[in-house]
Amino acid sequence: MMLDKIEELRSKVLNIVDNIKDEKTLEEYRLIYLSRKGLISELFENLKAVDKSIKAQVGKALNELKITAQNIYDTKKSIIEDSAKTQETISDYTLPGRVFNIGSKHLITQALEDITKIFERIGFKVYEGFEIEDEYHNFDALNTPDYHPSRDMQDTFYLNSEGKDKRYLLRTQTSPGQIRVMENQKPPVRVIVPGKCYRNEAISSRSLSMFHQVEGLYVDKKVTFRELKGTLDYFAKEFFGKDIRTRMRPSFFPFTEPSAEMDVECFLCNNKGCRICKYTGWLEILGCGMVDPNVFDFVGYDPEVYTGYAFGMGIERTLLIRHRIPDIRMFYENDIRFLNQFK
Ligand code: DAH
Repeated sequence: MMLDKIEELRSKVLNIVDNIKDEKTLEEYRLIYLSRKGLISELFENLKAVDKSIKAQVGKALNELKITAQNIYDTKKSIIEDSAKTQETISDYTLPGRVFNIGSKHLITQALEDITKIFERIGFKVYEGFEIEDEYHNFDALNTPDYHPSRDMQDTFYLNSEGKDKRYLLRTQTSPGQIRVMENQKPPVRVIVPGKCYRNEAISSRSLSMFHQVEGLYVDKKVTFRELKGTLDYFAKEFFGKDIRTRMRPSFFPFTEPSAEMDVECFLCNNKGCRICKYTGWLEILGCGMVDPNVFDFVGYDPEVYTGYAFGMGIERTLLIRHRIPDIRMFYENDIRFLNQFK
């Protein structure tokens, strides 16, 4: 008797599946079959009166029925909910568009591109150079003799060059780019060399073992120091703002003679003196000078005929100042909160 009833209900439930089409019919189904007062619960009530000998068998069949009915309910419910959702998204054109998180250029890349554009406007071409250089291009040809301290293992990352005819290293400056260009091209030459450089520095808030430089070189007949000054002053005004003042101080580099360093007015304190400019009112941004005749000898340019100027600036340092960034390491931690500020 009971088993027949269960079987009857089972086929009813299976037949009714196709009629459940929306929330309303789903709810009707639940009330009739699955609710506490529904038909299946009623059968569970009746189970109490069933003869012990078949109670286990009936109980099992009843449980299976309950599971089937519940599965039907669950499946239909999710289908109905899903279709409601898709209908919503398809038809509601008033919803705001999805915001995609688009990446942006890294602050360093942006600066390199800005600087490159500024120099391209006045006729400079870009040369990228090699990050792995040999000692000759990084030092010798730049008039930097064997005993020069910058060649020291403590500053330079030498590569294992065993069995090679040359000693290789990670370039410590973009200056070897000058040599590469002059070796391959007759004057006039007007290039900038942006790129990564490496030095074996103790890591701190001010220095890392990898950093970026932009090198510049101009060689022709009758190039003068005055042109160097004019060009760098133009650059500073384009990059930092047209009201910025610049100044040159005498300095020394092996590959330039005479050599100088250029400062820009400290724009944090307006030249009044502050902690960042060490109370001088000025910030150093680059080294420069007239190409040393010895360098011309190395590349086969006649120093009696040609003169030229060169300059090199550190990008990280300049950006630290420009954006008042307290720690150089922040450039390379890829913290979104940092990067987002420079989109
Ligand atoms: N290479 C120098 C450095 O890393 C910077 C520099 C100074 C480059 C003077 C030049 C230059 O081309 O003329 O400190």
